[in-house]
Amino acid sequence: MGLAPREVMSRLTACLALLLGTTAYGANPGSQYVLSPSSRTILPKWIYQTKGNVTIQSSRNYSSPVVLTGPNASVTYDFGQMVAGIPEFTFGEGHCSFCNTLGLPGYTCGTLCSGLGLSYTESARFVGPASDNSTLYSHEDGTVYLPVFPGRYPTPAKWQRGSFRYLTLSMPSSAAQTQRITVSFDRVLFTAQPSLTNPSQYAGYFHSSDDLLNRIWHAAAYTVQLTTVAANSSVQHLLILQSAGWEESAQADGLIATDEYLSDGAKRDRNPWSADLAVGIRSSVVTQKGLVAVKNALEACFTIQDVLTGYLPYAGSPLGNLFALLGQAYDSDTYHLWTIVGYAEYVLASNDTAFGQKHWSAVIGAISATYQYVDSASGLLNGTKVSDWGRVGQGGQNTALNALYYHTLLLTARIGNLLGQSNNTINDYTVRAAKIKRSLNDLLYDPSAGLFFDNTTTAGHALHPQDGNVLAVLFNLTQSHNQTITILQKLAQRHSPFGALAPELPGAISPFITGLELYARLQAQHHNATIALSLLRTQWKYMLDTFSNSTLIEGYASDGSLNYPFYPDGSGFISLAHTWSTGPLYALSGFVAGLRMSGFDVAEGGGEWAFQPAVEGAGVSWVKAGWVGVRGAYEVEWTLNGGRFEGTIRVPVGSVGTIYLPTLGQGSVRRATVDGKAVNGVSVDGFIRVGSVGGGEHTVVVQV
Ligand SMILES: *[C@@H]1O[C@H](CO)[C@@H](O)[C@H](O)[C@H]1NC(C)=O
Ligand SMILES: *[C@@H]1O[C@H](CO)[C@@H](O)[C@H](O)[C@H]1NC(C)=O
Ligand SMILES: *[C@@H]1O[C@H](CO)[C@@H](O)[C@H](O)[C@H]1NC(C)=O
Ligand SMILES: *[C@@H]1O[C@H](CO)[C@@H](O)[C@H](O)[C@H]1NC(C)=O
Ligand SMILES: *[C@@H]1O[C@H](CO)[C@@H](O)[C@H](O)[C@H]1NC(C)=O
Ligand SMILES: *[C@@H]1O[C@H](CO)[C@@H](O)[C@H](O)[C@H]1NC(C)=O
Ligand SMILES: *[C@@H]1O[C@H](CO)[C@@H](O)[C@H](O)[C@H]1NC(C)=O
Ligand SMILES: *[C@@H]1O[C@H](CO)[C@@H](O)[C@H](O)[C@H]1NC(C)=O
Ligand SMILES: *[C@@H]1O[C@H](CO)[C@@H](O)[C@H](O)[C@H]1NC(C)=O
Ligand SMILES: *[C@@H]1O[C@H](CO)[C@@H](O)[C@H](O)[C@H]1NC(C)=O
Ligand SMILES: *[C@@H]1O[C@H](CO)[C@@H](O)[C@H](O)[C@H]1NC(C)=O
Ligand SMILES: *[C@@H]1O[C@H](CO)[C@@H](O)[C@H](O)[C@H]1NC(C)=O
Repeated sequence: MGLAPREVMSRLTACLALLLGTTAYGANPGSQYVLSPSSRTILPKWIYQTKGNVTIQSSRNYSSPVVLTGPNASVTYDFGQMVAGIPEFTFGEGHCSFCNTLGLPGYTCGTLCSGLGLSYTESARFVGPASDNSTLYSHEDGTVYLPVFPGRYPTPAKWQRGSFRYLTLSMPSSAAQTQRITVSFDRVLFTAQPSLTNPSQYAGYFHSSDDLLNRIWHAAAYTVQLTTVAANSSVQHLLILQSAGWEESAQADGLIATDEYLSDGAKRDRNPWSADLAVGIRSSVVTQKGLVAVKNALEACFTIQDVLTGYLPYAGSPLGNLFALLGQAYDSDTYHLWTIVGYAEYVLASNDTAFGQKHWSAVIGAISATYQYVDSASGLLNGTKVSDWGRVGQGGQNTALNALYYHTLLLTARIGNLLGQSNNTINDYTVRAAKIKRSLNDLLYDPSAGLFFDNTTTAGHALHPQDGNVLAVLFNLTQSHNQTITILQKLAQRHSPFGALAPELPGAISPFITGLELYARLQAQHHNATIALSLLRTQWKYMLDTFSNSTLIEGYASDGSLNYPFYPDGSGFISLAHTWSTGPLYALSGFVAGLRMSGFDVAEGGGEWAFQPAVEGAGVSWVKAGWVGVRGAYEVEWTLNGGRFEGTIRVPVGSVGTIYLPTLGQGSVRRATVDGKAVNGVSVDGFIRVGSVGGGEHTVVVQV
């Protein structure tokens, strides 16, 4: 069949449009990498193993009946990637000759068969009749026993699991030799991010010439989805202290059951935690439409603020309610401050000034609560509530704590101005912040090491932490570019084949602190992504290949093994899908693709957005990214071909921002244009800056 020249042309144009990514927003150019299901029904991919006497009618069809006969007979289904939700079965004919009256959850005496064991695990390491652990380090989740009647059996929602790849059904060890149960697997009802009808249609996308970066971005986006949970499905810690068995049924105070919030981890704790929001907000900005899950997580923190002291909780409700009962051992200066930072960043990213006003007096009170711990001579906060992200030795005049304190004061002052609350109290924050910055450099910077000490004590001088140094750079506690670059160079010496080492938690790699290190590096060197992307590729590739190809683990050992030194007893408690490990989302969308909402980003000024791609050293020849912000869609795509850079952005009409043209490592360029008009300007820090750019579509060309 021949084509008329006109048809050839139009097909060619359509192809080019696809290549250039001028498809309508929402088409998602990276869709082949999306890990989220397109419906809420999930089926196993294959049977991982069987043990004992198991008859499978059709090994190709996992809805077809499986017969388990005799003690310990078991079948393990593999979903091929991490999933989440409520399994539904159909029980067929069976034969029971025992009745267990131990009172284990789910046992009902006199049913046809009492007790088919159900267990879940994220890692293949823990496949067996008992689940991996989700309820306090010291607690065994064990096996849930389902009552068996012939017919359909949707497992109760409280026994859903926030993330798992393997699901095992097993006969109790006390079953008789002839006892048998016939079971068909109907589906898993996917429960993550309940507000989204089609879970695969989250708002952001990212696609580039680099397969590894695409895999990492999509595993991170899927992780954020799995950690976005219904407000009545947190791990039930209060119950666990009273009896055996685990449940995902705890309700957060201040929210209703149909609300959803961004939690720390999908398996556990499924709870709002403020430090997780330090990464989670940026991750949500570039993947989610609206930030309601972030807002609800913050509500669940504010709602249990200590009214007597003004302190905000280590964990939000519901886990924070338990910590309040347990007393001061679980208080945290850093998480107190991260809650305020989360509040401010949420208000900036969402423009939700109503939320800002609602909690303003709580925030003022929370900041005042710290004053009694401030050293009057140095202005530094002396940490006394030492629970933190897992590190040891928090407390005293600690660098990370004070970098965070500095940032909290300045951000709160900014929000005060935004809300029209500016007065002497607010001005005082800026004065206090300036004093902290001076003292931190006078008392805690170690010029011979080119790094900050951990704290002001002798023991604190023996350690130069990752967290304190990363936060000092990220939050602008350094006094010169030279100092910033020196710190980053020294930290780079700790980049191992498994990732960046965090000596403040000996033997650990923290994807949380390393995610913040990615931001710090890209912010300090907007034009040069070399080290940041090398770290991102090394550490996150290792995490994907080793632990889960579909989600991001919370922490592991510096020898690369599945152990996290924060947890005293064993690796079955480690969460393999954790919000704070998703730093690559914003690193790639915000810094490498290079479109950011500047009101939200500390390093910006002028306008609502900035286009500032980190081209040098990124190792990609083209990239496309997009998301939905307050005013609408933000989209960016660029190509790098030899010495020629071409970029297109689409930003909301009515907005004003700044374009930074990358000069590709050159002091001057042959040609630079915005929307076809030549731009004259000198390269400053690797860019030619063009301010006051309006909304709509803009094209940028740079030829060196
Ligand atoms: C396995 O179970 C079936 C009934 O489900 C029974 O007929 C068969 O004998 C059992 N096989 C063994 C080896 O016990
Ligand atoms: C799988 O088995 C179930 C139950 O026996 C049956 O209803 C369904 O049609 C089968 N599906 C396929 C694709 O064979
Ligand atoms: C079933 O498993 C239990 C616990 O592992 C073990 O003690 C028992 O010997 C097993 N029974 C059979 C028949 O394999
Ligand atoms: C934020 O809200 C204020 C009013 O509260 C409005 O004037 C401003 O335009 C909004 N900004 C954006 C980016 O929507
Ligand atoms: C910090 O507070 C602790 C506990 O109140 C106190 O023992 C210590 O002296 C304080 N350190 C400084 C440097 O103020
Ligand atoms: C400043 O604002 C805070 C919080 O709104 C308030 O508590 C304080 O009284 C105000 N101070 C003055 C001097 O108006
Ligand atoms: C100071 O830092 C060291 C090293 O992290 C730690 O061992 C020590 O406990 C810290 N001191 C205080 C007072 O927190
Ligand atoms: C910082 O400045 C010192 C002294 O001028 C110089 O030796 C060093 O190379 C500089 N470091 C960086 C990273 O620029
Ligand atoms: C991830 O995928 C790679 C490549 O297919 C494979 O080698 C590796 O075993 C997988 N890892 C896990 C944890 O599934
Ligand atoms: C779960 O916790 C219990 C109690 O601490 C421990 O004995 C068991 O080994 C843990 N299981 C896993 C899979 O880590
Ligand atoms: C960082 O701090 C310096 C003062 O040390 C200040 O001049 C600069 O504006 C700050 N940068 C940002 C982005 O706030
Ligand atoms: C970018 O950073 C890398 C690693 O520090 C360095 O080797 C390279 O020269 C830098 N490129 C430019 C243009 O500054």
